[in-house]
Amino acid sequence: MAGFTAFLLAFFIVNLCLYDGVWALTGPQIAQDLKKSLSAGSEVFLPSDPAYANQTTARWEITAAPTYVVAVKPDSIVDVQKIVKYAAKNNVSFLATGAGHGYTNTLSALHNGLSLDLGNFSTIEIDSAANTVKIGGSVRAARLIAALQDAGKEMPVGQCTCIGMTGFSLGGGIGPYSGLYGTASDSVAEIEMVTGAGEILTVSQSQHPDLFWGMKGAGFNYGVVTAITYNIYNATNGGQALNADMTFPGSQNGSVWELARSFVGNHPKELAITFSIQYNATLGEMAIVGNFIYAGPLENLTALIQPFLDLQPAALNISSVPWKDVASSALYGATNQGCAGTGVEYVPYAVNLYQIDVPSMVAVVNFMNKTMAATPDVQTAVVALAQYAPSGFQLHADASSAFPYRDAVIFAQIDGFAFSATPVPALTAFGASVRDLLHKGSGKTELQTYVHFAHGDEGEAAWYTEGKLRSLKALKAVYDPRGLFSFYNAVGRRGGNYTTR
Ligand SMILES: Cc1cc2nc3c(=O)[nH]c(=O)nc-3n(C[C@H](O)[C@H](O)[C@H](O)COP(=O)(O)OP(=O)(O)OC[C@H]3O[C@@H](n4cnc5c(N)ncnc54)[C@H](O)[C@@H]3O)c2cc1C
Ligand SMILES: *[C@@H]1O[C@H](CO)[C@@H](O)[C@H](O)[C@H]1NC(C)=O
Ligand SMILES: *[C@@H]1O[C@H](CO)[C@@H](O)[C@H](O)[C@H]1NC(C)=O
Ligand SMILES: *[C@@H]1O[C@H](CO)[C@@H](O)[C@H](O)[C@H]1NC(C)=O
Ligand SMILES: *[C@@H]1O[C@H](CO)[C@@H](O)[C@H](O)[C@H]1NC(C)=O
Ligand SMILES: *[C@@H]1O[C@H](CO)[C@@H](O)[C@H](O)[C@H]1NC(C)=O
Ligand SMILES: *[C@@H]1O[C@H](CO)[C@@H](O)[C@H](O)[C@H]1NC(C)=O
Ligand SMILES: *[C@@H]1O[C@H](CO)[C@@H](O)[C@H](O)[C@H]1NC(C)=O
Ligand SMILES: *[C@@H]1O[C@H](CO)[C@@H](O)[C@H](O)[C@H]1NC(C)=O
Ligand SMILES: *[C@@H]1O[C@H](CO)[C@@H](O)[C@H](O)[C@H]1NC(C)=O
Ligand SMILES: *[C@@H]1O[C@H](CO)[C@@H](O)[C@H](O)[C@H]1NC(C)=O
Repeated sequence: MAGFTAFLLAFFIVNLCLYDGVWALTGPQIAQDLKKSLSAGSEVFLPSDPAYANQTTARWEITAAPTYVVAVKPDSIVDVQKIVKYAAKNNVSFLATGAGHGYTNTLSALHNGLSLDLGNFSTIEIDSAANTVKIGGSVRAARLIAALQDAGKEMPVGQCTCIGMTGFSLGGGIGPYSGLYGTASDSVAEIEMVTGAGEILTVSQSQHPDLFWGMKGAGFNYGVVTAITYNIYNATNGGQALNADMTFPGSQNGSVWELARSFVGNHPKELAITFSIQYNATLGEMAIVGNFIYAGPLENLTALIQPFLDLQPAALNISSVPWKDVASSALYGATNQGCAGTGVEYVPYAVNLYQIDVPSMVAVVNFMNKTMAATPDVQTAVVALAQYAPSGFQLHADASSAFPYRDAVIFAQIDGFAFSATPVPALTAFGASVRDLLHKGSGKTELQTYVHFAHGDEGEAAWYTEGKLRSLKALKAVYDPRGLFSFYNAVGRRGGNYTTR
């Protein structure tokens, strides 16, 4: 009897571990179980394996990261299904990993889990005649846009080429060509996935249209996507775009916001505008970098931005670039440089603006000027304002998908970049304050935040809107009844701070 008890005890010590007051399977046990049931082409890695660091997908952000005891790289949708069922049965917390660029603080609620790494779903198949492309669930924008450019095609992608196209599209996916085509999710034609209920499904307008609706804007709530097919478009403007970058001293901010406001209700679909408000430590003053991307001829762009040029920017660079290089050129290349690499300390905050209220914008710049001069820890923060043309967003009705912010004028982000963990508390306080100031002039009483740009403390109503939540919850009950997909700004998650530090 004593021997049997000792055996039982040993069994549990080897196989289970007390995590957060809950007994859970250990990484080695999960690895052993999965190796037994998965096909030979699928791979399982423990963090202690030398191969873990270079064969599993590393995360971009580390400030509020999830922690893993095991990573699995399945090589077929059937193996993905086996992993989801195993995790559900054994209470193993997990996340799908596409390209690892997700950064919301809610991710940090996942402790000692499993990374379901889709790294081996990496194909790109363009059908030029049908104007579609089918990609695997981990394909990054960089490879896709290069292939599309070669084929004389294009589609809306984001301002960074390292992000995963699937993760991006599941939350909507916005970028400079959204003025022409709307969100990336608006271009999704078909999705292959394993749901939280463990089913393998092909989802489209004609197959499971209810889930298709939810996948376009809230997709990470319902399952693991192995492949997406998009509608694509013939290249505009011969596959070339104009990129105009210009820098204004902070003292001109009022004029810059007046001009930005003049585009509201009057914004050509070929034009995307981004402003980056930053602190120039050399000069000890604020600067505003304006970026204009235009899919058309130079004379037309010049006419549109002449009022900005009349302000005589301190720096100016207008050049023609292939469509695929838009992201890597914009804002003097700064955005895309920030996107490359891994292990970045980053404190995000964001809020959607539904108008441009000049006094509120001036208040933001003045607050930044005062705070940044006094607090070296926050001098690396940048406020980015994406002002895309509404035309593309309006091609699809609000009811067509879960994406809820077709009428946003600006998607505002407070990017709290840091070189170490030390400035994180200061950047957190700074980001929350700037978000409050921006929200005051947003034109909405309630906070609305684009789900991919969220800090994580906003809660489900800010990410999805009250109007969409009823349907999203009904879908959750059917397609993820056990709440397996609950770590990325999930439906059902209330406002709160999740950071573990
Ligand atoms: C520098 C930078 C710039 C960005 N710029 C833009 C931009 O211009 N426009 C924009 O819209 N967004 C932008 N984003 C946000 C980006 O779209 C999201 O971070 C997106 O989640 C990244 O997807 P990923 O696969 O790289 O990340 P991951 O961390 O791998 O995934 C993020 C989450 O998405 C889900 N997910 C990912 N892949 C799958 C899959 N195959 N199946 C099921 N679920 C999956 C999972 O829940 C996962 O936790 C930017 C992010 C960064 C870091
Ligand atoms: C992975 O790391 C090992 C050990 O550092 C190294 O030998 C190997 O070449 C690396 N593989 C790749 C693909 O980078
Ligand atoms: C699964 O985990 C939850 C909490 O995370 C716990 O309440 C529950 O008892 C666990 N179930 C099993 C079968 O271990
Ligand atoms: C699958 O991943 C392994 C590394 O884990 C890599 O060596 C291999 O090339 C990948 N295969 C595909 C098709 O991406
Ligand atoms: C796209 O280009 C192809 C090849 O030039 C042409 O045949 C087709 O009609 C174009 N499609 C559209 C929608 O313009
Ligand atoms: C921002 O613009 C306003 C209005 O022109 C001006 O009063 C203020 O000084 C500017 N702020 C900074 C920090 O230069
Ligand atoms: C700061 O301003 C100086 C002078 O205009 C300029 O040379 C420098 O590039 C600016 N620094 C940044 C980070 O923009
Ligand atoms: C550019 O301007 C010309 C002249 O106003 C106009 O005919 C043309 O349609 C414009 N092109 C675009 C892409 O807006
Ligand atoms: C202007 O921008 C283009 C496109 O990004 C870049 O190739 C070029 O080097 C820039 N020119 C200067 C002078 O910075
Ligand atoms: C900007 O900040 C500096 C340093 O605190 C201050 O001297 C200056 O008055 C501020 N300018 C504005 C317009 O607020
Ligand atoms: C989260 O933390 C920020 C910064 O400390 C704070 O301003 C905010 O009120 C907190 N939010 C919640 C919901 O506790």
